[in-house]
Amino acid sequence: MENLGHFRKSYEKNQLLESELPEDPITLFARWFADCQALEPETEPNAMTLSTIDPDGFPKSRVVLLKSFGADGFIFFTNYLSEKGQAIDQHPKVCLSFFWAASQRQIIIQGGVTKIGTDESNAYFESRPYGSKLGAWASAQSQVVESREALDKRLEEFARMYPEHVPRPPHWGGYVVHPFKIEFWQGRANRMHDRIRYFIHEQGWHFERLSP
Ligand SMILES: Cc1cc2nc3c(=O)[nH]c(=O)nc-3n(C[C@H](O)[C@H](O)[C@H](O)COP(=O)(O)O)c2cc1C
Repeated sequence: MENLGHFRKSYEKNQLLESELPEDPITLFARWFADCQALEPETEPNAMTLSTIDPDGFPKSRVVLLKSFGADGFIFFTNYLSEKGQAIDQHPKVCLSFFWAASQRQIIIQGGVTKIGTDESNAYFESRPYGSKLGAWASAQSQVVESREALDKRLEEFARMYPEHVPRPPHWGGYVVHPFKIEFWQGRANRMHDRIRYFIHEQGWHFERLSP
């Protein structure tokens, strides 16, 4: 076993007090997202860990990119037939989490998840670069593939099939996560972190402080 006990940081950059909380968590999310963009532009602030529940009840997490957010929820795009797509079909409940190291912050979002409309998926697919569009056809995401060469060959085949306009594959599109709980974690000294959890009650957002 490699001992990592000496990896230890003190978090002292920020605080999160009730007096500065907006009424809804999306406003706070936007604030923190902007801070992260300003502080660590070289990272991908919109990279988030998406956790799903596999059909056998096991959790699985992987990184995906947040592509838009607002009062209606948090949107990401993927292959609907992938492992995550199948997990969501069975258990349409997910967790999204962000770790923004430079600001010593974490956000954890829990919610139900649904597919977005085909028009919205088409519009986003249209905005992607040509190669990414082909990739969406060439990759049977999460399936075992015999070799890298086989994958590259599939990409070439689709490039021949679609030399210009690439339609959106029907199995590729967006999901929107409808949050019902959003926790904001701000690292503080002595492991006495600030944790504020927003939750929906009687159709409105409320918040409570959690012990670190
Ligand atoms: C920074 C980063 C961004 C990613 N963005 C996406 C994404 O937006 N959509 C996606 O399907 N996979 C994305 N991936 C790949 C996923 O992590 C994952 O490998 C893939 O979706 C297959 O997951 P699954 O087999 O569990 O369904 C990203 C990976 C990284 C590291």
